[in-house]
Amino acid sequence: MNKTPANDQPQDKLNERLGAIHAEVKAWLPQINRISVALYDADTDVLKTFINSTDGDSPLDHYEAQLAQVSSLFDMAEKRAPRTINDMTVMAKGDSEHTRKILDSGYLSSHTVPIIHNDEFHGFVFFNASVTDYFTDTAVHNIGVYAQLVGLLCITEFNAIRTLQAAVKTAREISQYRDEETGCHLIRMSNFARVIALEMAPHHDLSDEYIEFLFHFAPLHDIGKIAIPDGILLKEGPLSDEERAVMQTHVGKGVEIVEKLVSGFKMESMPKIEMLKNIVHCHHEAMDGSGYPQGLIATAIPLEARIVAVADVFDALTSARPYKQAWDNDATFAFLKDKSPAIFDADCVAALVRKRDKVEEIQKRFNEDVFG
Ligand SMILES: [Fe+2]
Ligand SMILES: [Fe+2]
Repeated sequence: MNKTPANDQPQDKLNERLGAIHAEVKAWLPQINRISVALYDADTDVLKTFINSTDGDSPLDHYEAQLAQVSSLFDMAEKRAPRTINDMTVMAKGDSEHTRKILDSGYLSSHTVPIIHNDEFHGFVFFNASVTDYFTDTAVHNIGVYAQLVGLLCITEFNAIRTLQAAVKTAREISQYRDEETGCHLIRMSNFARVIALEMAPHHDLSDEYIEFLFHFAPLHDIGKIAIPDGILLKEGPLSDEERAVMQTHVGKGVEIVEKLVSGFKMESMPKIEMLKNIVHCHHEAMDGSGYPQGLIATAIPLEARIVAVADVFDALTSARPYKQAWDNDATFAFLKDKSPAIFDADCVAALVRKRDKVEEIQKRFNEDVFG
């Protein structure tokens, strides 16, 4: 288990691998001074920055846009064909902050390749150069294989996560375990976790890669509940002390399940698997040490677990459950503030409160009541 300070995040392995590919590309085409990837989330129609290798400072981090509102990219996603812009200044009145920031950074030409896998659109690979007319037919031809490689690099990782999620879903269905950790709750809480992380990113130096993995791992936080007997998991009314102790084993059992799945599916090399384990193991820790299973205190609790705890509890309280009504957002924010910094990380709570408009957008988009 990772007990290093939470903001001492593990290396961004995909960023590193992209850097190695970029170095190879530059051996052929030295003026390409940025390669970046933006990923597409079909649930929200959001295109978001993910990894980049940039000579100098990256002009664009923690950025997202509705694909439908960026017409040039939207068209390319529809047509599924690469696009070359040999003079980006003609895009100066471009339809996105993205184009403007890229231009301001002195990139004058670009080549963009959509990432398509299994007939689905997953995002874009962007190549930028500091001179105009850099992407000749020969250059584009040479870049093609690297674009495919970068696309595959990303898809492979997310396919691995998808396999994990599918395995968990199947296990749940087999155990006939109809719990609260389904459907819209998981989508909402993972989106809230992302909102918190994006808001905290500048102060905690969180990369887009970190935030993206957090977003995909958050729904797996209660994976260990599969191993809890139905008699306890589905019991109506309060649990006895003994039953509560069994219930609390779901965090340790969750880590065991992750380890089994990872070795069973040969995913040991998957980046950020520690982050998944931290989320599963530590999402019931409390800042004052009163949580479980380890009674970790404050920043000894990995940041990803502190974020997920706030996102999960916020959604649990604002959702109707068979035994309780939904709380409204005001009451829930007040509760979370009241319980921080004792239980919850006050920075995570403040970040969520500040992004209330985003929170409400997510609630509106994914408002299906699991038990409705
Ligand atoms: Fe849990
Ligand atoms: Fe949950």
